[in-house]
Amino acid sequence: MKEKYYITTPIYYPSGAWHIGTCYTTVVCDALARFKRMDGYDVFYLTGTDEHGQKIEKIAAAAGEDTKKFVDKRVENLIQLWKVLNISYDKFIRTTDEQHEKAVQKIFTKLYEQGDIYKSEYEGWYCTPCESFWTKTQLKDGKCPDCGREVELTKESSYFFRLSKYRDKLIDLIENDPDFLQPKSRRNEMLNNFLKAGLTDLAVSRTSFKWGVPVPFDPDHVVYVWVDALTNYITALGYMSDDEELFRKYWPADLHMMGKEIVRFHSIIWPAMLMALGLPLPKKVYGHGWLMLGSDKISKSKGNIVDPFILSGRYGVDSVRYYLLREVPFGADGAYSNYSFLSRINADLCNSLGNLLSRTTAMINQYFGGKIPAEREATEFDAELEALINGVYGKVKKDMEELLVPEALNEIFTLVNRANKYIDETTPWLLAKEEGKKARLASVLYHLAETLRVAGVMLEAFLPETAGKILADLGTDVCDVFEGNVSYGKLTGEENFVKGAPLFPRIDINKELANMEKIAEEAAKAKEEKKEGKPAEPKKEEPAKAEIGIEDFAKIELKIGKILTAEKVEKSKKLLHFSVDTGDRVRSIVSGVAKYFTPEEMVGKEVVVVANLKPATLGGVLSEGMILFAENADGLATVEPGRPVGGGSTVS
Ligand code: MSP
Repeated sequence: MKEKYYITTPIYYPSGAWHIGTCYTTVVCDALARFKRMDGYDVFYLTGTDEHGQKIEKIAAAAGEDTKKFVDKRVENLIQLWKVLNISYDKFIRTTDEQHEKAVQKIFTKLYEQGDIYKSEYEGWYCTPCESFWTKTQLKDGKCPDCGREVELTKESSYFFRLSKYRDKLIDLIENDPDFLQPKSRRNEMLNNFLKAGLTDLAVSRTSFKWGVPVPFDPDHVVYVWVDALTNYITALGYMSDDEELFRKYWPADLHMMGKEIVRFHSIIWPAMLMALGLPLPKKVYGHGWLMLGSDKISKSKGNIVDPFILSGRYGVDSVRYYLLREVPFGADGAYSNYSFLSRINADLCNSLGNLLSRTTAMINQYFGGKIPAEREATEFDAELEALINGVYGKVKKDMEELLVPEALNEIFTLVNRANKYIDETTPWLLAKEEGKKARLASVLYHLAETLRVAGVMLEAFLPETAGKILADLGTDVCDVFEGNVSYGKLTGEENFVKGAPLFPRIDINKELANMEKIAEEAAKAKEEKKEGKPAEPKKEEPAKAEIGIEDFAKIELKIGKILTAEKVEKSKKLLHFSVDTGDRVRSIVSGVAKYFTPEEMVGKEVVVVANLKPATLGGVLSEGMILFAENADGLATVEPGRPVGGGSTVS
């Protein structure tokens, strides 16, 4: 039987726009989950949304919307983001799910009945953005010590959880089980700043607002949002429901992953609650660092967002995944800049990986017509590369077990770089010209193909889309497990090796930096205009179109695009936002067609796209191309090929 592995992200507040920092925890957990699955584990990967609390209630009210409708829309948008980023979660829990709410009530009642929760009066300070209680001495210059924002003096009747009762047990846990809380710096922080400084009981209900799970035996109170949220890790598995099978199978969690600012909740409050419930504790809580922009944490409330839809639409999903997994030293903070993002793509994905694939497949086609002959003559150069190929899985596995994600990727790219150097050392273009060197050339190309195959299989955990493309160009399939697929020698040479489209087109960094700035400016302007409610420009009469020559028509690049996702653009009645696979990448395209089509009916269609149209921002969303429609008196119709031809096919 497979060993189980239960991995979780925090559940996200569906409160504002998503940014690249938001994606960090989820992309990292996705790579870990995919890796474990391929390593033969029975993985359960949980993510979801944390929808209750004063913060969400206030934000929805400020937007003039019904709270549930507001969160429904935001959650839909988050699910869309995870789809674009290829997140392979096994369950998405919402704290507004009926089963979760009922289980929260049962947990609260159980803790109350056994004396772990009691009623009293709360007087202290509350930070709404962090949904955190603070004592006066904990405040920093009168502000929230976590986020530095204003706090509110709060006095209300409240239920309390006897957190203080668990202090000694928590100290013992963190001091004596070094695996429980990592990295080490977080352990010291929790011990010194919170546990050893004294632990007071925790207010676990609120009466000043309504958007939460009602305390079943005292409905003027709603359950404190963090208590409601933390229990998601067990209610998602059916704890306290009619069907606890998943709970029995997967609990305790093998890994709770989160950003460092919420480690306190996961390593103090959550284990204390589990102790009170008599449940086993998670095996590991890991607090990763932040993605910063300059000296600021990228965050919705600071307004310095870097839009992941735009980045993955423009540069490909795997560019975003790669950047997050590779650039941020795991456990520490990392600084985002457009320059470091573009440079990473160019250096590693385009130059190292992309070039190795295109050179290898081009040579197999040029010299041997797309197959590698069986007669191969090996040398010590080949033996060295072979040893590296055979060693890479072990190194990557060790890194992944220690949560050294950038290091794990680095192992794969060390192999790729070594193979690029091997091309220069073995000079296949000279072998091709020399008499009697066919078998030697075949061995060189076979070793290159095997390097790419093993790198491709390993990359399935990190860059699933790219891995699929690499393996397809080698005429082989993606696989479900590493076992039997990560050592040298699996290709026969009889596969169909094809020279496909470049994996990652080379970026002209200076030009692209200017484009990125323009896009950001346009997005900011559109947002401002939306805020001010400026009326749309009146439509100008279109002048009659002059005749053009074929050379003018040739300037237009038409492609078939496959619509992967579609959604309405927030606050616009006209616009639909599509992600469209045009072969080179997945593009973000906005069209004013919401009157004629529902998002659902557009998904899966193959349409004609003007691919070299200058990017623009429509309704605050980036549009990188235009979908063509036919129009008559009945309205619009899509323009589709007569049979499925696949995204990226040319139209001429
Ligand atoms: N709702 C709580 C978690 C409850 S779990 C029982 C919450 N939500 S959040 O939406 O604010 O954060 C979700 C995740 O995104 C957290 O792991 C957080 O650390 C992460 N990030 C948000 N901004 C980030 C960066 N700029 N950089 C890296 N990760 C960051 O907290």
